[in-house]
Amino acid sequence: MLVARDKDRLDELALDLTNKYRVNCEVIVADLATEAGANHVAKRCADDSKPISVLVNNAGFGIKTSFEKTPIAQEEAMLNVLVRAPMLLTHAALSVMRKRGRGHLVHIGSVAAWITSGTYSAAKAWLTTFSESLSVALAGTGVTSTVVAPGFVRTEFQQRAGMKPQDVPNWMWLSARLVAQQAWQDVLAGKTVSVPSLQYKVLSTLTRGLPRPLIRRVSKDVMR
Ligand SMILES: NC(=O)c1ccc[n+]([C@@H]2O[C@H](COP(=O)([O-])OP(=O)(O)OC[C@H]3O[C@@H](n4cnc5c(N)ncnc54)[C@H](OP(=O)(O)O)[C@@H]3O)[C@@H](O)[C@H]2O)c1
Repeated sequence: MLVARDKDRLDELALDLTNKYRVNCEVIVADLATEAGANHVAKRCADDSKPISVLVNNAGFGIKTSFEKTPIAQEEAMLNVLVRAPMLLTHAALSVMRKRGRGHLVHIGSVAAWITSGTYSAAKAWLTTFSESLSVALAGTGVTSTVVAPGFVRTEFQQRAGMKPQDVPNWMWLSARLVAQQAWQDVLAGKTVSVPSLQYKVLSTLTRGLPRPLIRRVSKDVMR
């Protein structure tokens, strides 16, 4: 089941996956920033006649401008996509997974959750704590919850947010394939937190161990 707003791209991806892996792909066109869109997908996630084994809360976007300069509607849309939609979809999918006694919840967070870089950081911090809490609450049930915290990944993310990828040093970039492969291994191993790549494992261990005032100083202007 593939969810996004762009139907043509979803149909193309569904066809590609069907041809390569001989799987059935269900396409749902929905805007997760809207109540109607998120509710529509949540209803599908709660359908136990076609149970979902793995839910990946991946949709997201960033905002380049500072909080006070960003139109509040854009901030609300980001909060809806990064926080509200994952909460609704997880709640819906979890009901089915608990009945079956198995399933994987996967939340795509970010290393930004551990710094103080605006509302994006705040939303990813929410998702991280949410997923960690679920992981503890679901221990021994057969259902797992993993938060994946990538660093910079070469996707359309930076370009869509109007950020400048050229300002990021080469060694900080990861491929989407590497992130997906390492994250999936961690999901299957039942890990609570997955940080793909050695460089970000080291960086995130340092970040989480450093005093908060220092984090506040270094994270100023990282993303905005
Ligand atoms: N790239 C990075 O450096 C990086 C680093 C850390 C974490 N992340 C996180 O990784 C996740 C995936 O991002 P990405 O890097 O793959 O960015 P991307 O290439 O821009 O992809 C974003 C995806 O989210 C979907 N999406 C965005 N807004 C949506 C909405 N309102 N409703 C439904 N779907 C929506 C997009 O599809 P449509 O536009 O067709 O709706 C697209 O499939 C995000 O949660 C992001 O925060 C990215």
